[in-house]
Amino acid sequence: MIGVLVSGNGSNLQALIDARLPVSAVAANRKDAYALVRARAAGIPAATFSLQCHADRAERDLVMATWLEEHGVELVVLAGYMHLLTEPFLSRFPQRIVNVHPSLLPAFPGAHAIDDALAAGVATTGVTVHRVDEGLDTGPVIAQEEVVVEPRGTLVERLHAVEHRLLPKVVMGLCRSSVAAR
Ligand code: GRF
Repeated sequence: MIGVLVSGNGSNLQALIDARLPVSAVAANRKDAYALVRARAAGIPAATFSLQCHADRAERDLVMATWLEEHGVELVVLAGYMHLLTEPFLSRFPQRIVNVHPSLLPAFPGAHAIDDALAAGVATTGVTVHRVDEGLDTGPVIAQEEVVVEPRGTLVERLHAVEHRLLPKVVMGLCRSSVAAR
């Protein structure tokens, strides 16, 4: 079972749902995330874990991890989740958290990867799916796909199209290998 963490639009969540992957829970850090609407429309349990409701980030992460476990989650996918995860969450899902990022990491980590790549004038950027550790977009890379920058006007759209194909493919592979390992 897969748990997906979201903060925004949720187009990557939608790609996982459309690929018929077993998403059993969706958690957001903000209640206005459109991804929550997508989850509920698909009949998937969805909840918000905002920082304002908890003493600190570590406590929020602990409560969120427990809620995911209660929903049978074994693999966590960050799909546009804009907070760093703390140790109490990471230690509950060791080696079982992945993130999708719109650059060829380690180039252009952080929240402005596409703008940063454009500003740097690179000819090629891309998409990375990687394991998550305590750093900002720093865990080991699982898969990458290059995307040429030109024409710039369609770069965002083309990066998202690659994300929507690459993320479900990687997640499907991880689900299969965890079933095979049992
Ligand atoms: C994606 O570009 C993802 O790579 C990045 O945040 C964006 C989220 O988009 N981490 P969405 O919410 O999945 O539509």
